[in-house]
Amino acid sequence: MAFPQSFMDELMSRSDIVDVVSSYVQLSRKGSNLFGLCPFHSEKTGSFSVSPDKQIYYCFGCKKGGSVINFIMEIENLSFPDAVRFLAKRAGMEVPEEEGNREAARHRQRLLDLNRDAARFYYQTLQQPEGAAVRAYLEKRQILRATAVKFGMGASPDAWDALLLAMTKKGYTKAELLDAGLVVRNKNGGLYDKFRNRLMLPVIDTRGDVVAFGSRVLDKSEPKYMNSSETPVYSKRRVLYGLNLAKKTKRPNIILCEGNLDIVTLHQAGFDNAVASMGTALTVEQTRLLSRFTKELVLCYDNDDAGKIATDRALQILNHSEFSVKVLQLPRRLVDGQYVKQDADDFIKFQGPDAFERLLRGSENGVEFRMAQVAGKYDLTQDESRVAYCEEISTLLASLPSAAEQEIYTLRAAQTAGITPEAMKLEVRRAFKRNAARERRAELRRSLNPASQLQPRERTLHYENLRSARAEEGVLRLLLMDSTLFPRDIPLQASDFSSPLLGRAFSLLWQERSEGKEPSLSLLTPYFSSEEMSHLTAVYQQPESRQNASQALDDYIRIIHTEAEKRADSQQDPLLLATEKYKGKK
Ligand code: CTP
Ligand code: MN
Repeated sequence: MAFPQSFMDELMSRSDIVDVVSSYVQLSRKGSNLFGLCPFHSEKTGSFSVSPDKQIYYCFGCKKGGSVINFIMEIENLSFPDAVRFLAKRAGMEVPEEEGNREAARHRQRLLDLNRDAARFYYQTLQQPEGAAVRAYLEKRQILRATAVKFGMGASPDAWDALLLAMTKKGYTKAELLDAGLVVRNKNGGLYDKFRNRLMLPVIDTRGDVVAFGSRVLDKSEPKYMNSSETPVYSKRRVLYGLNLAKKTKRPNIILCEGNLDIVTLHQAGFDNAVASMGTALTVEQTRLLSRFTKELVLCYDNDDAGKIATDRALQILNHSEFSVKVLQLPRRLVDGQYVKQDADDFIKFQGPDAFERLLRGSENGVEFRMAQVAGKYDLTQDESRVAYCEEISTLLASLPSAAEQEIYTLRAAQTAGITPEAMKLEVRRAFKRNAARERRAELRRSLNPASQLQPRERTLHYENLRSARAEEGVLRLLLMDSTLFPRDIPLQASDFSSPLLGRAFSLLWQERSEGKEPSLSLLTPYFSSEEMSHLTAVYQQPESRQNASQALDDYIRIIHTEAEKRADSQQDPLLLATEKYKGKK
């Protein structure tokens, strides 16, 4: 693997799993393990366990598990090397970078430097005569100078190669400019600036690095907004515009909007807790990022159909999260006898910050929003539509994760539909069964069609030979528990294992032991997927008696050998086998 073993050993000894997990999950001791609420699925009773002895975590609910590195990979949404770097930083250790990694890291740093220099260039342009048009635009949108500075705004000159020239003069190569997405290649192979004559909005991540740019035209031409493409330093799924500022807010929640300039206006009006997903749907990665800074989200999307769809989609993602979620619905605005769409920016301009503060305080929770959406679809004065309403609303109610929520909103839905609470409860119970049946059918479809949707975990969980696999699991547990039980020479080959996964794990651990080290599960992390690690952790966390361990080991090994021989026999040419038998009889 990329990191030297001595470094990894030290890192592991300085990254006690209990310490690390405790900064995310509140743990309390029960017997030899610690338990808490699982951070990876929604639950009310703690089925998430941490074993200080085995240095593993395992959730009995969602069956996720692994070493301390797997935990960080999962919760911080990092790759293996990045999780190692994360833990090293926490432990105050320097990371010895491998040659290839060092090169990639150096390249990323160059792109970040380039982005910062480009942001400076745009910022300076804004103050100069060439920036007059953008300055006028900012004024038109009532964006104060101090706000523009806080967001690091700039102006891209109305020219084809202003940035290209300025940055090559600073020593950046054309390849670097292309990689950063700041210049584009034309049909003839020439290069030109991607952003021209635009208001520039640097996208700054929570570490303070300029990772990309958003930009807006100054007139009505298209495209209105133009953003950096994906680059080695920018993945739009993982970034939220304004979070670099919003993470410092004193307010109890974070407001999610659609547009960059909504954020600017909100911050200027005192709502320094606003962030934008820059026109894309909220992603799981973004919710993980947000969970580091807040427990409460307020969705404030535009009040048009697209905004409603975006809200609904975000609520689906957030339904099983630990966030409490509210929806702030902006009213439409009456203009010349017509109601028109309004976003946060418009609302602050026309109704003022106080009115927004009132909306924020009164914003309804996500369930209320979705219920209102459903109710809005039906004419509840008609019996037929009331029946249809009951059917749809009960499906929604049945999917609510908490019993309290389900009870409260079932009562409310009964009132809306004008039926008794008992009848509505019955509907919800039926919907619950419908949902469950649907899931079972989906499950069945998956199992009948192994090539398609089969989850990796289900695949690894499937054992060809259960008798042998149980013994193989026992051998692994004993090797991890106390490798001195084993003889000096390898008692089993990976090919003796009926489960390739367990066989692979065994040979890696054995190699560790033959180098004089104590085999540990964390050693396996770089070699297996998170599903495979969860499975191996499930195996390891099962109890294995220390008494008679030697005897148990002998039995396990014997079973594995016998089963392996049976397999070898059955794989032999049947014809040959028959003649052997025939010979034997003779
Ligand atoms: N967006 C984008 N590309 C587009 C249009 C929109 O990336 N072609 C993103 C931008 O981040 C924008 C957000 O989607 O801020 C919302 O778009 P829209 O509602 O159309 O614009 P507003 O934010 O209202 O823009 P403005 O107030 O500047 O007109
Ligand atoms: Mn707008």
